[in-house]
Amino acid sequence: MKKLKIADGIHMLSMNVEDILFEGIWEIANGVTLNSYIVQGEKTAIIDGVIGWDGIPETLYRNLAEIGVDPKKIDYLIVNHMEPDHSGWISNFRKIKDDFTIICTDQAGKMVSSFYGEDRIKIVKEGDTLDLGRGKVLSFHPVPNVHWPDTMYTYERGTKTLFSCDMFGAFGRLGEHCFDDELTPEEMDFFEAEGIRYYSNVMATFTPSVKRAIEKAKTLEIKTIAPGHGLVYRKNPQKIIADYVRFSRYAEGAGKREVTILWGSMYGMTAKAVEHTEGILQREGVKYHKLEMPLESESEMVATAFRSAGIIIAAPTYEYKLFPPVAAALNELGRKKIAGKTAFRFGSYGWSGGAEKELQEIMERTNLKWDFVESVEFEGAPKKEDLIRVEAGVLELIGKMKEKTVE
Ligand code: FEO
Repeated sequence: MKKLKIADGIHMLSMNVEDILFEGIWEIANGVTLNSYIVQGEKTAIIDGVIGWDGIPETLYRNLAEIGVDPKKIDYLIVNHMEPDHSGWISNFRKIKDDFTIICTDQAGKMVSSFYGEDRIKIVKEGDTLDLGRGKVLSFHPVPNVHWPDTMYTYERGTKTLFSCDMFGAFGRLGEHCFDDELTPEEMDFFEAEGIRYYSNVMATFTPSVKRAIEKAKTLEIKTIAPGHGLVYRKNPQKIIADYVRFSRYAEGAGKREVTILWGSMYGMTAKAVEHTEGILQREGVKYHKLEMPLESESEMVATAFRSAGIIIAAPTYEYKLFPPVAAALNELGRKKIAGKTAFRFGSYGWSGGAEKELQEIMERTNLKWDFVESVEFEGAPKKEDLIRVEAGVLELIGKMKEKTVE
């Protein structure tokens, strides 16, 4: 567990977590951090929680002691968000100390009670404050549906620190460097990519609420952003706010000048057109990601499609419908509400079509409002004239993407 001083009287405990599926779904190839913050005035508050996977409260006790915090003197446990990655340690913490008060929103209070049987809870609303003494004053600002309905920001007025919980978070394990001003250019790229993966996997469904939370953050004077996952931003907190504005636009159809090819092929007919497409994209200087379904991880597929302005669906008809692994990927993008992308589909059929009809059904059901170039279907292997039509579709897609490109 890392222990870092954020400011006078404010410390962070952070733990890298790997080899789990985040939310039981998402493969986190590069890990994730869980961050907890301790604010000390005359009274002491701990914001969200982190406990070793050993689940032993003494591990937490020892780590707190090493930063000069006596766990028995913690008065308040602030639950910014009840999801158990932040709160799953509460029952263990009760074993260390039995008389702290939980502070959270009304929604979180109900869940803290139903998940952990807690009843010593103080409910807070927008703008409520908690004076810890010695200049440390916390204020509370609900940001519902980021990512669960119970979430709130906690803001420390003296140091102008925003404890943002899931907002402004990222996947990616922390190494030596935990603050934005310490990062090498390579690490900055790494955390931007991990931020995109985190946003697309965990937050994208809630983009309208994320946008409201961004606006709420802008009403606060912020010197430091200290999220529940990922880096602490103390040099340029506006960077992660601007990144989140950009990510929210990716969820609404913008993207980098990149194409994701979501493809599958039973016997290599559609694959021939994919190969042709790659040559066109290379010739046109457009970066692309070729994701063969179902071999790609769901986490990577969602993140890659999310960040791309253009999507090429290369999938044949299978039993009168769209090739199932590609249909499943599109349904997942629908669940994540990754809307407004510029798209083009081509694919082979044998004795009948049907893929196109199912594609339309998926788009209508998910209401993704993707902007499609006219699809190309071919019987069996693609002939020369089919490849010419594919090329025309790819070029039209590249042209249309220009309006949506945001790097
Ligand atoms: Fe970090 Fe919504 O959990």
